[in-house]
Amino acid sequence: MKFFADSADIAELRACHDMGLVDGVTTNPSIIAKSGRKIREVIAEICSFVEGPVSAEVAALDFDGMVREGSELSAIAKNVAVKVPLTPAGLKACRHFREKDVMVNVTLCFSANQALLAAKAGATFISPFVGRLDDIGLPGMDLIGEIRTIYDNYGFDTNILAASMRTVNHIKEAALIGADYATAPPAVLKALYSHPLTDKGIESFLADWKKSGQSI
Ligand code: G3P
Repeated sequence: MKFFADSADIAELRACHDMGLVDGVTTNPSIIAKSGRKIREVIAEICSFVEGPVSAEVAALDFDGMVREGSELSAIAKNVAVKVPLTPAGLKACRHFREKDVMVNVTLCFSANQALLAAKAGATFISPFVGRLDDIGLPGMDLIGEIRTIYDNYGFDTNILAASMRTVNHIKEAALIGADYATAPPAVLKALYSHPLTDKGIESFLADWKKSGQSI
């Protein structure tokens, strides 16, 4: 499974990148707004040190607007993936960009049928939002399993990018099901390293080493 960091905070992204946790980056209009920076500038800075796909989302809702905005965004760097919403115009824009060999991340997916449509439109990534389904009392992770089955049934090569991952358990479950990618905030990615028994083990080994009086 590859990891995308869901953030536009450069310091956080660099820290995660140094820890080997960044195979790519995802952003959305809320994340860009939170950064307080202009989208072109912040996406360009992310692409200057992240080699993998960097998703930048259009804000337009109509096909022409999405094509105009998506073209601007994809011109920033070769590794920009244009992010479009799962609407008829979004999937039409997806076909347009895929014909031009531009990566497309189809976002705001909440059903298996939506994911099927995105795959038929040639999406590079489909982003099912697990946490937001959980928020309304629906089993978000079931959607990842349904999409995996459907894509495998028909040999679609669209990558399942499990999104709205809020916990390390989300990531583990998505990996067990076979999602190709997961995107999560840097804090969740960094928490993948953590286990209290690792900390406890280091503490006791160090104490015993000190008692031994040895050095290496
Ligand atoms: O970037 C899309 C997605 O990961 C958003 O997550 O936590 O805002 O539902 P969240």
